Amino acid sequence: MKIPPLDIGDIHVPFPLIQGGMGVRVSLARLAAAVTNEGGIGTIASVGLGDIEKSKTDFDNVSRDALVYEIRRAKSLTDGPIAVNIMGVLSNARDLVQTSVREGIKLIVSGASLPLKLPEMVDDATVKLLPIVSSGRAADLILRTWDKRYARTADAVILEGPLAGGHLGFSFEQLRQPEKFSLEVLLPEVLAAVKPFEKKYGRKIPVIAGGGVFTGADIARLLQAGAAGAQMATRFVCTEECEVAPEFKQAYLDAKEDDIVLIQSPVGLPGRAIHNQFLRSIENDTADRLSCPYRCLTTCNIAEARYCIAKALSSAYQGDMEKGLVFCGQNACRLNKIVTVKELIAELRTELEAY
Ligand SMILES: Cc1cc2nc3c(=O)[nH]c(=O)nc-3n(C[C@H](O)[C@H](O)[C@H](O)COP(=O)(O)O)c2cc1C
Repeated sequence: MKIPPLDIGDIHVPFPLIQGGMGVRVSLARLAAAVTNEGGIGTIASVGLGDIEKSKTDFDNVSRDALVYEIRRAKSLTDGPIAVNIMGVLSNARDLVQTSVREGIKLIVSGASLPLKLPEMVDDATVKLLPIVSSGRAADLILRTWDKRYARTADAVILEGPLAGGHLGFSFEQLRQPEKFSLEVLLPEVLAAVKPFEKKYGRKIPVIAGGGVFTGADIARLLQAGAAGAQMATRFVCTEECEVAPEFKQAYLDAKEDDIVLIQSPVGLPGRAIHNQFLRSIENDTADRLSCPYRCLTTCNIAEARYCIAKALSSAYQGDMEKGLVFCGQNACRLNKIVTVKELIAELRTELEAY
């Protein structure tokens, strides 16, 4: 297959791949810049940045300063486009969006709840807004709301399927029926949902699909089915440029299919993670009890949450597997070595061209 570029308005992406945002310091500046330098788009995840202890007394300022630091670091490593991923359920989402724009970020990606108010947070019409959806219905609702309230549409839509890592936009019930909610089934729905808005706004709204994409052939199949590009995250954890502790990457390399489980996250959504000592301590009720002074998530039910997810993900980033929650996509069990971003994208490119 001849590799088609991905164009998001005036942003030209030679290799049609977005590295998905991975929160709590899994996708930082170094990884994001490396992906952009190889012709894709790298993404800094804005959730869980900065010192968690300092956050307890000054959450908004610590998060904002840490995001500014990552954006400036990325810009010192690449001249190309970098995206920032901002989870809609964050209590400081608006501040993080506005900080990103102030720092010159041109692509804002937002999911984990429907980002219905995203356009009102961004005055600058040249900033690209990319909502993440898990169904045609969600895409339709977001685009209809944006059209009606803000006379604005999405610059691209990211479809995240049920095999993705981190928080998932599906119920447990839906996740038990993979054939009904596969990317192959969902992609035509989302393509149909964007169509009326492409017509109304007279421009293409590229749909980028991800969740379990592992090879160049997987990307090729999505492109043939009408996607304009793919989003991948899990494979980027096992790259040299990903800045998590070696124990985090080793957990991916050691994971077998049965070790990858679905959990109920305190965020209020299902999530996918590697079953480890930490999850056993939750099951056995021996984990530290939750104490939360700063309310980073609007949806976290403190009365019922068994643990602080920000703290558990941060422990994993630091390599503490007794206290760490290791988020991953379903295909983490297929990883068997650490490579550079350059090697990974060269492999995908070769496979895509050979398809
Ligand atoms: C460790 C990890 C953390 C993630 N964190 C976030 C996040 O903070 N925000 C978000 O929108 N998606 C998050 N995701 C989802 C990814 O951005 C991506 O869409 C998805 O994992 C793609 O599927 P793949 O991992 O199979 O390639 C995360 C995924 C992983 C593996």
